[in-house]
Amino acid sequence: MSETVLLVGGGGREHAIASAVADSEATLYACASNRNPGIAALADGFEQLDETDPDAVVDYAESVEATVAVVGPESPLAEGVSDALDDAGVYAFAPNSAEARIETDKSFQRRFLDEHGIPGNPAFEVFDDMESACAFIDEYDGDLAVKPAGLTGGKGVRVIGDQCTAEEAKEYLRDSDYDRVVLEERLVGEEFTVQAFVANGDVRPAPAVQDHKRAYEGDEGPNTGGMGSYTDATVELPFMTPDDYTAAVDIIRAVVEALDGYKGILYGQFMLTAVGPKIVEFNARFGDPEAMNTLPVLETDFVDVITAARDGESLPELSFAHQATVCKYAVPEGYPTDPVSGAKVAIDEESAGDALLFYASVDAREDGIYTTTSRSFAVVGVADSITEAEEIAEDALAAAGEEGLRSRHDIGKPDLIQQRIDHMNELRGGTE
Ligand code: AMP
Ligand code: GLY
Repeated sequence: MSETVLLVGGGGREHAIASAVADSEATLYACASNRNPGIAALADGFEQLDETDPDAVVDYAESVEATVAVVGPESPLAEGVSDALDDAGVYAFAPNSAEARIETDKSFQRRFLDEHGIPGNPAFEVFDDMESACAFIDEYDGDLAVKPAGLTGGKGVRVIGDQCTAEEAKEYLRDSDYDRVVLEERLVGEEFTVQAFVANGDVRPAPAVQDHKRAYEGDEGPNTGGMGSYTDATVELPFMTPDDYTAAVDIIRAVVEALDGYKGILYGQFMLTAVGPKIVEFNARFGDPEAMNTLPVLETDFVDVITAARDGESLPELSFAHQATVCKYAVPEGYPTDPVSGAKVAIDEESAGDALLFYASVDAREDGIYTTTSRSFAVVGVADSITEAEEIAEDALAAAGEEGLRSRHDIGKPDLIQQRIDHMNELRGGTE
């Protein structure tokens, strides 16, 4: 039977999902709050609607006779879009809202990992009262990461000793209107992501990715949704051993077993510390940008994986091309604190050359595509080595021009990769 896939969401991650669906035999429809021109070009239909409104999404799914759905972003998951699709008989390859709490409620996440004895969970405390949280910061011997329990688009965390002092963290809490925060042991090391396809008890992990959350080169500035990311031609990254990757996958498997019945993508964010991978967080979806590294090298038919999940079958073993990828976002000048929108985007698939182009938050007007206040578009190089992939991505950014846009040119460059390797060697006492 030919499948009709409904994609929910309109960012760079969803453009990558749309491309993966377009590579299969399936028919694609998409809906999102913003009109993504890249997705619209690949889809048979694109509806602009509130992607967090379960009724609106179900109405559209029914009108296009979707046989399966993929939900990209976290906010529709939190609002029960996946539950509503399942209830309407449109299988969603995404967790229901209760399972998505592994991402949407960080206090639930830490307690759940703790209760199930999942290895790599850092020490943590949950506070509903900001003054008690401040008192804990004063008492605690060491640095803490301060995290609002709810969704903040990756921008709510403050790490004492890295981004701020203890005094600044307390001020941040006192000035906030957070109802609940998690304070946890600061983890020191190198971060990496492993995304796994999960359904029917099967776990099929993708190669490790390293994202760059800080806004400016050299990992300076405020946290963003992610400025860019890379993968190597192997499943691990240059600063990791194969055992580090296996340890992370084992943690994901343990979480899937504890969740019992989870379906969709489970995203593990890890800190590789001197004593192995520790859990920074779990997300209930693909990463953005990480999906743009992973899906272009997925050789297995993406829709086959989803339909196997829906049909209660074992998931196919995944095959990934042995190629490195480098993804770089172009963001509006001033992003994330004072973004200036309205610059004309002077790049299309043709001028991107050898790089893949994924649109994110842009405004498609009659006379062209313009930036908004969020990440604009990403370019992805795919090649035999990280260095070659990085050059392909840079060539595409050069073709796009810099007018009103900014990128992190250091992502994927040999210098930064070497710094990551040196950092891990130093933490491990030079034994690697
Ligand atoms: P999250 O929203 O949980 O992904 O956190 C955003 C970023 O904050 C992470 O990517 C890390 O860089 C940093 N972070 C979060 N938790 C910790 C922690 N326990 N120790 C050190 N850094 C952390
Ligand atoms: N790249 C981080 C995230 O998607 O949460």
